[in-house]
Amino acid sequence: MEFTAHEPLVWLITGTSTGFGNALARAVLSRGDTVVATSRSTPIDLEKAGAHALPLDVTWGLDKLKETVDGIVEQHGRIDVLVNNAGYALFGAIEEATPEETFDQFNTNVFGAINVARAVLPHMRARKSGTIVWIGSLGGWQAVPSAGLYVTTKYAIRGIAETMQAELSSISEDLRSIYLEAGHFRTTFLSPSHRTQYSPRINDYTPLTDQFNTVFQAYDRRQPGDPERFVRLLIDFVNREGRFAGRKLPTGIPAGSDAYEAIGTTCRNTLQVLEEWEDVIKSTDYPVLRAKPSRLRLFGQKILARGKGIVTA
Ligand SMILES: NC(=O)c1ccc[n+]([C@@H]2O[C@H](COP(=O)([O-])OP(=O)(O)OC[C@H]3O[C@@H](n4cnc5c(N)ncnc54)[C@H](OP(=O)(O)O)[C@@H]3O)[C@@H](O)[C@H]2O)c1
Repeated sequence: MEFTAHEPLVWLITGTSTGFGNALARAVLSRGDTVVATSRSTPIDLEKAGAHALPLDVTWGLDKLKETVDGIVEQHGRIDVLVNNAGYALFGAIEEATPEETFDQFNTNVFGAINVARAVLPHMRARKSGTIVWIGSLGGWQAVPSAGLYVTTKYAIRGIAETMQAELSSISEDLRSIYLEAGHFRTTFLSPSHRTQYSPRINDYTPLTDQFNTVFQAYDRRQPGDPERFVRLLIDFVNREGRFAGRKLPTGIPAGSDAYEAIGTTCRNTLQVLEEWEDVIKSTDYPVLRAKPSRLRLFGQKILARGKGIVTA
């Protein structure tokens, strides 16, 4: 592995007991950066590898998260990079999940991740510098029956990351919110110990959900994506190195050929709907707007284009 010389950074990574988080912590440590590695129970293996290992459950209340983050900043001086990685998948049809299971899924993958960002951002804003990394999914672009609530959390992650980038870039160009959208990678993500067990509850859905559950089981440890390559890409994205050097960067980047295909298909289908249904789509405007866009609307478009989230290299 080839790395360029750089100023050591302080990374805070959530969900480091296994998978991407664990591989990322190790790769970052091997660069000589400081890693604060967290998961629900202290990742002892990473402590042995040289990380500052801490328990941090992303579903803790904001006050407890702030207290923990303040302690990290007191000890290490700053946090340069937060990687909001912790997450899990709930399986079953959307109607089958209980309100509690639904809340828990969003609480870990979305609300918790936002709260960790809320705890870290005051420190980054004070220095006008820092990067928040969000881990999205190709699932954030397509309907996946029997994983509907999980993929919906990843749709949300894209919206949050893009919007936060627009907000942070108004403060400083060195404050960034970026995201990677992973295809299927060979972590423990689909292993029975990590995903919630699927238990059919409504017979009408069973033929469909059974089929998807069989596919998820068969895919475990056979996914095409290599987690080590993923974390190297993430590190390069953060540091604007390797393939990202000297280029105008997007806010988010897909990872994996399956992500490339799935996202491309969704985009092409969406464009097709826009073209085919243009007259219907535009038919709800006030007639005067259709004839000539108002100055207010043009102003709104300009503001939105400015916040489009292009991160300059
Ligand atoms: N692998 C893929 O194919 C894939 C694809 C797209 C996106 N992703 C995303 O990548 C991220 C990492 O997943 P992975 O593939 O590395 O799966 P993984 O091996 O199952 O790792 C998930 C990590 O999240 C942690 N975690 C779960 N709930 C937590 C909580 N409440 N607080 C803190 N940590 C928590 C787990 O730690 P403990 O259970 O020990 O606390 C574990 O370390 C997830 O956000 C996932 O949605 C993965």
